[in-house]
Amino acid sequence: MHLGLDLGTSGVKALLIDDGQKVIGAGHGSLDVSRPHPGWSEQDPAHWIEACEAATAELKASHPKELAAVKGIGLSGQMHGATLLNASDKVLRPCILWNDTRSHVEAAALDADPRFRKLTGNIVFPGFTAPKLAWVKNNEPAIFARVAKVLLPKDYLRLWLTGEYISEMSDSAGTSWLDVGERRWSSELLAATSLDEKHMPSLVEGTAKAGGLRGVLAAKWGIPAGIPVAGGAGDNAASACGMGTVGAGHAFVSLGTSGVLFAANASYLPNPESAVHTFCHALPNTWHQMGVILSATDSLNWLSEITGKGAGELTGELGETLRAPTGVTFLPYLSGERTPHNDSAIRGSFTGLGHESSRAVLTQAVLEGVAFAFRDSLEALKTAGTTLSRVTAIGGGSRSRYWLKAIATALQVPVDIPADGDFGAAFGAARLGLIAATGADPLGVCTAPATDATIEPDAGLGGAYADAYQRYRALYPAIRSVTA
Ligand code: XUL
Repeated sequence: MHLGLDLGTSGVKALLIDDGQKVIGAGHGSLDVSRPHPGWSEQDPAHWIEACEAATAELKASHPKELAAVKGIGLSGQMHGATLLNASDKVLRPCILWNDTRSHVEAAALDADPRFRKLTGNIVFPGFTAPKLAWVKNNEPAIFARVAKVLLPKDYLRLWLTGEYISEMSDSAGTSWLDVGERRWSSELLAATSLDEKHMPSLVEGTAKAGGLRGVLAAKWGIPAGIPVAGGAGDNAASACGMGTVGAGHAFVSLGTSGVLFAANASYLPNPESAVHTFCHALPNTWHQMGVILSATDSLNWLSEITGKGAGELTGELGETLRAPTGVTFLPYLSGERTPHNDSAIRGSFTGLGHESSRAVLTQAVLEGVAFAFRDSLEALKTAGTTLSRVTAIGGGSRSRYWLKAIATALQVPVDIPADGDFGAAFGAARLGLIAATGADPLGVCTAPATDATIEPDAGLGGAYADAYQRYRALYPAIRSVTA
């Protein structure tokens, strides 16, 4: 048995797999995001621990015997968050999350220093970790002065699980402090934010052992003490391990809180100008690229809150047959956007509303807007040298066939739906736990699931979608020009 723990934005998932990788059971603990000011997005790390306790307790209640047989644990987590600890591991302030854009001024300043793009292979986005530390230094200097360690969210969970300060390459690549080609901390970049390697955890590959489970937790959960906790991965690389997206040419589209178009690469192919992210993969000596859109299912959830209708109810109103785009266009920039605009100030919009614009029309526009944002990422990946001929869909939003059809039509590539099962980040994390515990060949473990169905681009609506995409593209500069 092996356990995957995924610390997401909306909850912690604990997933148990057997030695043959069959899913045995799952537990869940919920999380909320606090948004005390526009553009801010925070969580209290104590809540991560509570959610992890809730998830494992649920698993223990349903599968005590299987939990007792766990041999390895793998971690996955929301990326980029800045968890600041003092010298006695006390959390100094709420964690500033990946979709928090308060540090845009600091990010632009760091990005203007050519060493950052050269060594990290990426734009310094406001959501990344280094600019957050620069913001804390500028705005909360008393806290900055007490920072002894900076940990990514899942690595804070690891500290609680194992007592060790360890991270791995895929998540660390999103800090703006990692030399992504060389897979090591850059003392030069750390110094540029008044930090040094002492503030950082040590680094391993995602498949390597990174600590052992503390006795007190082992006793509580009924798991053997000291079993290895794998390095694990940032949630996107972990999902890729779950989906078998580990070799060049393989790609997935993830419809989670954020949206990700992810492509595996056999070598390091940085192209910061395209606003594509180029990060280390969780497997040794591999990398990946991705386009990131900040509000994917978050856009639909926003509409759901406004209308008081569940997200499933809203998509249900559209049926399963793709409709031609109406004149209503939605830009999904509720938290600003990363790929392709790197613009934290831009906000979402509906345009083209008329008296006839019903709730279903708005839902349709939201789903199309997110599909077009993925098209922008596809174009950005092309500029970065990666062409995709098909993608596999994952994430909560992929339950909507309508949305997948819209994405296939906007991207003009077939979208594969994996056979029923759980192939997300927690499953990828469990696979990494299995590899760390058994020494199994990573490529032999991280295989792709069977395809259940393939959604082809809608042949009749390709032209209408292409026109609607051009309208969508034209709106960003227009809205930008009236944005402060
Ligand atoms: C990736 C990113 C998001 C988070 C979501 O760069 O910021 O996908 O990892 O959890």
